[in-house]
Amino acid sequence: MDSSSPLIQQFRKFESKEIGQQLIDQALLYKADPRIHIHKGMGKRIGCIFLNPSLRTRVSTQLAASNLGVEPIVLNMDKEGWALEMKEGAVMNKGTVEHIKDAAGVLGTFFDILAIRAFPSLTNKEEDMSDFVFSQFVKYSGVPVISLESAIRHPLQSLADQITIQEHSKEIKKPKVVLTWAPHIKAIPHAVANSFAEWTLGMEHDLTITHPQGYELDEKFTTGAKIEYNQSKALEDADFVYVKNWSGFNDYGKIITTDHSWMLTEKHLKNAPNAKVMHCLPVRRNVELSDEILDGPRSLVQKQAENRIYAAQSVISHLI
Ligand code: CP
Repeated sequence: MDSSSPLIQQFRKFESKEIGQQLIDQALLYKADPRIHIHKGMGKRIGCIFLNPSLRTRVSTQLAASNLGVEPIVLNMDKEGWALEMKEGAVMNKGTVEHIKDAAGVLGTFFDILAIRAFPSLTNKEEDMSDFVFSQFVKYSGVPVISLESAIRHPLQSLADQITIQEHSKEIKKPKVVLTWAPHIKAIPHAVANSFAEWTLGMEHDLTITHPQGYELDEKFTTGAKIEYNQSKALEDADFVYVKNWSGFNDYGKIITTDHSWMLTEKHLKNAPNAKVMHCLPVRRNVELSDEILDGPRSLVQKQAENRIYAAQSVISHLI
């Protein structure tokens, strides 16, 4: 499949509800019978390149590829690869050993598909917003590139989240989904929140985003959502509550507050009796989200994580 196809573009920028539903349907087919297409990827290889840590994305992508007969090879570039130079025309007489154009070119000859995790710097807004590192792999590898979370999006997580919402909203026509900011001790990227907003709006759910003043996300991803600064008002009658921290976007990469009162507990959900609670994991327990919620009947976090396999499988299947 060529890399300009709408299916691939869906992972660069949400294209359409129809493509989203097609990917969800395919994922659910694989969930029912994971190895139904075990011979489909025979002879193909996917290179999973990590410039940052991962548990779920790393393992789910490998399992997804294996279910299709595709051989996955993981390279922890941050630990096992050469230090990469990203700057065009750089005189490489300092710490970097290999230029991205050489590394990506080689990887493109080794693999049929590449999958890249490349977090933002959170210091250079312009570069992060252009998804610079991910784009370099797209530019120089010459093969289809899947995002395993880039500077601005985490599409495989969002696809898994939409599968989970669909599975748990059979009786609900247009679920009320609330994305709520949660406190954290570190400056966290915007990719999960951006992508979740983009996909939830794209799938035409009713999305409210709630956060303290100053934590406004990039409008590119949130136009169409209600923004409500009063968390308790936002949570009323929610069907799904997605909990996530992110750092400042306008005050780029900064922690503006760590207000503990924003951590979701059962008390916060007194006016949302049926709300299911979601988080992409990893989660800092009793900082972002309380034990009582994570260990209770509202929690969908393990189901989201399981769906990561079938989200990745759906996408890889379309690419081969
Ligand atoms: N949710 C998610 O992407 O998890 P990992 O960072 O462990 O891959």
